[in-house]
Amino acid sequence: QADEKESMYLVSEYASKYFQKILHKTDPGNAIGLSYFKERGFTAETIKKFDLGYCLDEWDMFTKEALGSGYKLDYLEKTGLTIVKGEKQFDRFKGRVMFPIHSMSGRVLGFGGRILTNDKKAAKYLNSPESEIYHKSKVLYGIYHAKQAIAKEDNCYLVEGYTDVIQFNQTGIENVVSSSGTALTSEQIRLINRLTKNITVLFDGDAAGTRASLRGIDLILEQGMNVRVCTFPEGEDPDSFAKKYSEEELRKFLQENAYDFISYKASLLVKEAKNDPVKKADVIRDMVSSISKIPDNIQQEIYVQECSRIMDISEDVLFTTLAQLNSRDS
Ligand code: CTP
Ligand code: MN
Ligand code: MN
Ligand code: MN
Ligand code: MN
Repeated sequence: QADEKESMYLVSEYASKYFQKILHKTDPGNAIGLSYFKERGFTAETIKKFDLGYCLDEWDMFTKEALGSGYKLDYLEKTGLTIVKGEKQFDRFKGRVMFPIHSMSGRVLGFGGRILTNDKKAAKYLNSPESEIYHKSKVLYGIYHAKQAIAKEDNCYLVEGYTDVIQFNQTGIENVVSSSGTALTSEQIRLINRLTKNITVLFDGDAAGTRASLRGIDLILEQGMNVRVCTFPEGEDPDSFAKKYSEEELRKFLQENAYDFISYKASLLVKEAKNDPVKKADVIRDMVSSISKIPDNIQQEIYVQECSRIMDISEDVLFTTLAQLNSRDS
């Protein structure tokens, strides 16, 4: 068992090195991976830092190379790098640029692979399947590069995607991780909890991003952590936004636009229907429900006061609602 896992780590490390090598081969057939990253504005230094790579658009080129180098088909299949169909073998990530996913200690656990076009027919990203070494609900993309900065800044930025993490790093902000292709989980938040009690959620400026951030808030509060939310203009994500600004400008934006969850939820109401009493009541109930997730009673009370002030509703009725929720949960 331990041997099997070690063999899977080794073949993953090999694959990461191989995809990096392919990315940097200069003959025309191979250069498209590197051009893709350059077009996105990634520097050579960034490409190296994140070990970005490319898997050739050939059916089984990588698998053949790996087998030729002595790696066993069994482990290539178990890590999902190779898809085996009867006698035939296929490279899972054929024709994709590669983002290796590292553990806290820097081992390669799996990959995300992106197609080079914005063609809607193929899945934009393909990720390694669950395996003995890759449990997607327990992994945060970027954690290896972020851990020191998270502890030092005592805050962690949480983004949706691979390129958001990378662009932030390139701009000079390193305390950033992504849940990458899975709804945020408690296990992922627990990883951050070891390093800081403060999370700032930076999800995409679209409906999906808003939904995901609302879900994330409660999971973070449940662990007794502080959560702030910073929203980007409609249609922007942290990558596209960071690309346009200097480190100083980006830091300023993040500071000025990060709100605690009460203010954030209040701002969503303002967007929708400020004067609709039914909607307003829903939002208040939703705020109280989030407050009920906070383990500490004193903190709960502080947020009740804030909710009362911002939503212009008595603390009494909020406490009554909260007490009902608290007794229901316990
Ligand atoms: N994702 C995925 N599979 C998809 C689409 C998305 O696993 N088919 C994951 C990826 O980790 C992606 C993240 O969800 O980085 C966020 O999705 P999205 O915002 O659509 O992608 P971006 O990261 O913005 O990708 P890009 O800028 O490359 O288009
Ligand atoms: Mn590495
Ligand atoms: Mn998105
Ligand atoms: Mn995005
Ligand atoms: Mn993007």
